[in-house]
Amino acid sequence: MGVLKHYRALLPIADKTPDVNLEEGSTPLIYLPRVSSHLGIELYGKFEGCNPSGSFKDRGMVLAVAKALEDGKRAIICASTGNTSASAAAYAASQGIPCFVLLPAGKVALGKLAQALMYGAKVIAVNGNFDRALELAREGAEKTGCAMVNSVNPYRLIGQRSGAWEICDVLGKAPDWHAIPVGNAGNISAYWAGYNEYKKLGKIEALPRMMGFQAEGAAPLVYNKPCPNPETVATAIRIGNPVSAHLARAAVQESGGEFNAVSDEQILEAQRILAAEGGVFAEPASCAPLAGLLKFKREGRLPEGITAVMILTGNGLKDPDTAMSQVGKPIEINDTLEDLMRVLECR
Ligand code: F0G
Repeated sequence: MGVLKHYRALLPIADKTPDVNLEEGSTPLIYLPRVSSHLGIELYGKFEGCNPSGSFKDRGMVLAVAKALEDGKRAIICASTGNTSASAAAYAASQGIPCFVLLPAGKVALGKLAQALMYGAKVIAVNGNFDRALELAREGAEKTGCAMVNSVNPYRLIGQRSGAWEICDVLGKAPDWHAIPVGNAGNISAYWAGYNEYKKLGKIEALPRMMGFQAEGAAPLVYNKPCPNPETVATAIRIGNPVSAHLARAAVQESGGEFNAVSDEQILEAQRILAAEGGVFAEPASCAPLAGLLKFKREGRLPEGITAVMILTGNGLKDPDTAMSQVGKPIEINDTLEDLMRVLECR
């Protein structure tokens, strides 16, 4: 039914708030038996790739766009590593308003770029990284009066709390560990706020540990200093100076969790394991948490039998180039049964 309708009572929605809806949210919480038994835990993946634009961004974008319209704004603007732009462009299209997106030139996965262009956004490739594009977008918003729909817009993070509510609604409790990729650091903060709200309402008894995973080449929260030249195969989280760093630090501290860094190799290995042993295809950034859990397991730091939820933030189909660089080619045969029998090895 869409996030605004589903969680209306928990969201800042008034009668005059426009009804924006792409049927986002209510994404599957998938139990992963093979990966669970490998890790010795109960592992679920919240598959945010099932959202209408293929990432978790839709949960907050729907509210940010509704509130922008309510406030009389007639255009939206954002900077993005790809998913925010796809989401903003989709909701702008659904409402018939212009959308401007600033992307780090050459560093956005193909599917995300195709989405923003197809949805009809004005796509601006900035010769600079995401952090610089975000500064420019903020200045552009100020000068033009466009609504800024990055997660500096408070409605984005409020809408994203719905992910935590859904997990608790399905599990009947919060998980022991909440494992999540961290880029601009908004989503981990939103989840923490969502769990806390549910605890206050008496819907859950205990809070999870918030475990935030970054890519080694873009890990300002792990190393506790901005990273001027972030680099990682997980382009979604190629961010050196997260705007919500303070909120994310508080979430990790208050929950007794931690930030940890994983290498690009570990991220890509986790992506293959999730697909080949879980049946779920998520984009590289989304696989940083599984890479982290595998690392914890190897280091003997993963408690036996815990329930863990990892947020699979974006769909694997968004970044076909990275996937294809990891896997072999199809086996080509002539159109004869003889050729086919040579490759069927299932007897
Ligand atoms: N995973 C994916 C697939 C993302 O696209 C992002 C952020 C994150 C994780 C990190 O979430 O920023 O809340 O800590 N993508 C933003 C974008 C930056 O522009 O699409 P975060």
